[in-house]
Amino acid sequence: MLASLITLEIAEQQQDLSINRPASGLSLHGRIRVLGDKSISHRALMLGALAQGETQIQGLLLGEDPRSTASCFRAMGAEISELNTELVRVQGIGLGNIHEPVDVLDAGNSGTTMRLMLGLLASHPGRLFVVTGDSSLRSRPMSRVVKPLQQMGAKIWGRQGGSLAPLAIQGQTLQPIHYHSPIASAQVKSCILLAGLMAQGQTTVTEPAPSRDHSERMLQAFGAELSLDPETHSVTVTGPAQLHGQTVIVPGDISSAAFWLVAGAIVPGSELLIENVGVNPTRTGVLEALSMMGADIQLENQRVVTGEPVADLRVRSSPLKGCTIAGESLIPRLIDEIPILAVAAVFAQGTTVIRDAAELRVKESDRIAVMATQLNKLGARVTELPDGLEITGGTPLTGTEVDSHTDHRITMSLAIAALNASGTTTIHGAEAAAVSYPDFTDTLQQVCHKSD
Ligand code: S3P
Repeated sequence: MLASLITLEIAEQQQDLSINRPASGLSLHGRIRVLGDKSISHRALMLGALAQGETQIQGLLLGEDPRSTASCFRAMGAEISELNTELVRVQGIGLGNIHEPVDVLDAGNSGTTMRLMLGLLASHPGRLFVVTGDSSLRSRPMSRVVKPLQQMGAKIWGRQGGSLAPLAIQGQTLQPIHYHSPIASAQVKSCILLAGLMAQGQTTVTEPAPSRDHSERMLQAFGAELSLDPETHSVTVTGPAQLHGQTVIVPGDISSAAFWLVAGAIVPGSELLIENVGVNPTRTGVLEALSMMGADIQLENQRVVTGEPVADLRVRSSPLKGCTIAGESLIPRLIDEIPILAVAAVFAQGTTVIRDAAELRVKESDRIAVMATQLNKLGARVTELPDGLEITGGTPLTGTEVDSHTDHRITMSLAIAALNASGTTTIHGAEAAAVSYPDFTDTLQQVCHKSD
């Protein structure tokens, strides 16, 4: 425990997380669990709300993003018990039966809530919905889902020609389409599939490369008729569908585990066992990238839990080397882990080049610009590329003040970088971590041990 070396100052909902690396150094040890997978948690709440009968969810992520999903679906008639990790019960209202909410639906910081929900709202005729989010979400592009929904006959209005929230949606009877998505995006794919549940006939989404497939797995488990063509990266849903309540056991989030994988790899003398992590192959790009860099990570106790592959991950520190992280078949499978992979690259020998990741510019923050500026403040050598980063590793970091730009993954990535920076690093806006990982600081304190 390093309680005195990790401090959290809270003033008017703004948090400063300070990490004070002892001169003698530190190492990380322990057996930990990360919170539930964010993508699966959203989908379990949504499909549970749309199903007939009861859905039971174990291991739900108690982060701000799933809370936004739960509150939106409660406002549309679903009965969702108090959120907790043990057991959440969702009394579904049945597809087609969502109520017109009496107020604006607030998706908070959550792109997944807003984009997936749009497919459902647009396909429920005779109801009006208004959706909004926080300032980050209101600046993120919605045209990627609004345009295909409009091709299906949706009526959606918003700022800048319907591309920015707040959005107003007049539910319609939608027509099925075959949509060729220009980007590999699970949010786009899932939005169209959810809209297709209510359209009469076959709705197909074809992607340039596979994106995470949690929607497909869960829709099938809930009884939707789906066909998959892995050769063309296409998925077809036949509507109108009926969903039936299920039990969903949510595995730990590999995107949260990634912080500990990198921390364990870069802090000398460390060994961590991260139990119960989802290792769906559409999400394990981070393991491949870290293996290319020479990280020592082992998968133990592999099993399948309610349709999702799960394993315990053991990481031991090892010297890392730079590599190239690029390509349309890899980037979508590690898109959320690029900030923490950039931290790994800072401590690797040689140069790491990350390309084909322009999507990062429209996440919760412009993660390319923010990671480059904040890591450089600590003394790293990071250059922004239009679609990625070039990082020359091996320069020692010196603690200073950095800013999360209220982005959860930036906050946690900078905290891990600080473990190897001399002196004190203070991260402003650290409250953002609660979006996906409210326990992050507690676990950090639990695993850090001062070297003698
Ligand atoms: C998500 C999909 C990804 C990811 C996001 C969660 C999801 O976005 O970045 O954090 O749950 O579908 P895109 O696939 O749209 O890039």
